[in-house]
Amino acid sequence: MSSIPLANLSLFPATPEQTLESRKRTAVQWANGLTAAEYVRRDVVMDAQEHAAEGNLTTWVLAPRTDPATLDFFCSCETFRRTAAIARPGAHSEAEEVVAYGVASVYTPPEKRRNGYARHMMRLLHWVLAPRSTLPTFPPAWGAPPDAGHGNAQFSILYSDLGSQFYHACGPDEDQASGWAELGSIETSLTLPLVAILGSAADSSHSWMWLTEDDVKRVWEQDAEWMKADLAASASSTGRLQAAFLPNKGVADSTVQRTMAFQADMQPVLPLDTWGVFLLSHEGAALRDVLTDHEGEYPTFATWSLDTLASSRTLIVTRLRATKRTLPALVQQLLEYAGKCDARKIEIWGMQEELQEVANGLGWTTSARPNHLSSFKWYGKEVGEEIDWMFNEKGRQLVSLR
Ligand SMILES: CC(C)(COP(=O)(O)OP(=O)(O)OC[C@H]1O[C@@H](n2cnc3c(N)ncnc32)[C@H](O)[C@@H]1OP(=O)(O)O)[C@@H](O)C(=O)NCCC(=O)NCCS
Repeated sequence: MSSIPLANLSLFPATPEQTLESRKRTAVQWANGLTAAEYVRRDVVMDAQEHAAEGNLTTWVLAPRTDPATLDFFCSCETFRRTAAIARPGAHSEAEEVVAYGVASVYTPPEKRRNGYARHMMRLLHWVLAPRSTLPTFPPAWGAPPDAGHGNAQFSILYSDLGSQFYHACGPDEDQASGWAELGSIETSLTLPLVAILGSAADSSHSWMWLTEDDVKRVWEQDAEWMKADLAASASSTGRLQAAFLPNKGVADSTVQRTMAFQADMQPVLPLDTWGVFLLSHEGAALRDVLTDHEGEYPTFATWSLDTLASSRTLIVTRLRATKRTLPALVQQLLEYAGKCDARKIEIWGMQEELQEVANGLGWTTSARPNHLSSFKWYGKEVGEEIDWMFNEKGRQLVSLR
């Protein structure tokens, strides 16, 4: 453990210089196929985008109270402010929008590890995210609480690559079980044999529309409304509180932007020009019509991102909406596009159980993920066991992973 008393440390929003230092440090861990310069450049490009701009992204550092701006800080992480929706059983028939946070890029440099720094940083994080009224007494052994920070979180989430215990032990006080609890880390995936890719190409149907980046943004805008209606319906049918991150306001789009690579002149370039597919109600229909057709059939679509750096190039489904009847045809479209972009795997997180059954009948596999464990912390009187985290797909969460 640290020889520095915890009371001498606190959590601070990073200065611009500390943010850059944090990014240079984490490049070692997460740059994957990018050079360190490209990795830092990607963050700079994305800083200006809606999901990060206007204070949505904050880098935090754990540093000595006596020298908060030091570049020799102990560890760092990032938080992304997001619009989420919650629906309470019985209280209202409509979902309400709340502020919630995704936590990303938790990092301690190798020479500073195993001193308890990351644990303490994560414990203090609750104190800059949540309203103080929802938190217990600040432990005197930790000195004074950090400055107020955001103070408006209804909940926060992260994706753990450290198992389910580490972050659960990082609560707002010395209680070892009041941090982020693992909640539903389910993945439905298909590893593509070449024959399936070739076979699927012949089955494409003219009533599907391939979506550009601008199109998927319009879909997510409407989908946010559909999701709120779904949350309200689920709250009333299950009697449990429902919570979800919404995909609009640049959030799901950040998973598209994160695929950027760089040309020789450091100009960013995206690897695909198609990011989704939508089932049209009739041939020749415009996307605008199907998005506003409230009398029509339940919408069927998928949007995606691409993980070019995974050991097998993977199409990552960021939103999926289908019925048991329309899913098989949607799966055909996914197979077709995976073939076109040379993906070897298709991955869907948090699929509805009734759709999992259909997918599994088509040769997909549903299993608990061994890593990227979905972890959830609620700030309020309700406890985790009373809350369902809906639409927990990778779309809103790549920002939480790196
Ligand atoms: C994980 C990491 C942030 C821990 O930082 P740290 O300051 O050393 O953490 P702490 O000293 O507070 O806590 C150490 C505890 O972390 C846990 N831990 C560390 N690495 C772990 C791993 N790979 N798997 C599971 N638990 C791990 C252990 O419980 C350890 O406790 P112990 O020393 O009693 O065994 C640091 O090792 C790191 O930056 N790793 C690379 C980036 C990364 O994986 N980030 C997390 C992404 S979810």
